Amino acid sequence: MNLIERPREMQECSLKLRREGRRIGLVPTMGFLHEGHAALIRRARTLADWCVVSVFVNPTQFGPHEDFTAYPRDPQRDAELCRACGADALFRPAAADMYAADHSVYVDERDLSAGLCGAFRPGHFRGVLTVVAKLFNLVQPDVAVFGQKDAQQARLIQRLVRDLNFPVHVVIEPTVREPDGLALSSRNAYLNADERRRALSLSQALRRAEALVREGERDAERLKAAMRPILEAAAPTEIQYLEIVNYQTLRPTPQVAGPTLIAVAVKFGKTRLIDNVIVGR
Ligand code: PAF
Repeated sequence: MNLIERPREMQECSLKLRREGRRIGLVPTMGFLHEGHAALIRRARTLADWCVVSVFVNPTQFGPHEDFTAYPRDPQRDAELCRACGADALFRPAAADMYAADHSVYVDERDLSAGLCGAFRPGHFRGVLTVVAKLFNLVQPDVAVFGQKDAQQARLIQRLVRDLNFPVHVVIEPTVREPDGLALSSRNAYLNADERRRALSLSQALRRAEALVREGERDAERLKAAMRPILEAAAPTEIQYLEIVNYQTLRPTPQVAGPTLIAVAVKFGKTRLIDNVIVGR
């Protein structure tokens, strides 16, 4: 596996491979990789013949009071996981090489980013879309694989590709969960044992909603009313949102009619966890 640290080297390598007719796959990550990322890398390998994993804790997607400095990092373990999953290259740029000191061009989305996480993390998706656009330009992927766990991010990247005409096929893979239902996330590392137990309330509430939809419930308010007590029983520090939105528009919907995203964001102490399911498809 190649370790590439310079953006220019990454781009030159990819352009050469494309000239040779190779199909490039990209899995963008912020590192501290887990089995969820491993699933994305394995999927990318089936879709491309040269697979790049990027590991970059992107400063522009963190707010001033968020966890950029504390974000967990383990470069050696990340490299081992990438190698074990069969990645061909690990792209690990330094922040100073990704952003010039006077960097001034950003990708700003004005519709899908307004609600859900966007409402609680101003500027977050501007940072995400900007770095993903840069990664697309540097890695020149034919296909890029993202996780459903970050459902709003995934929809925004589909919109980025559509609106800015990136020749990239975006693939969204299902959320990988612990056996007890907790969605895998690098931020789970922040949870102490008690918070880890209480964090199960997210997947439990979502499973309850899924079961109700299977039984025929379609009313969003009734679904939320069934979920909220499950979240509240875990005594979270804050329930940031519990939303039922149309999967295409990400706007609240009164009824489950067609693909519908049920999404939650909950804080335990300082740790902010998100999870979601798609129903009605
Ligand atoms: O999902 C993530 O890990 C990040 O938001 C991404 C897509 C790698 C951009 O920094």
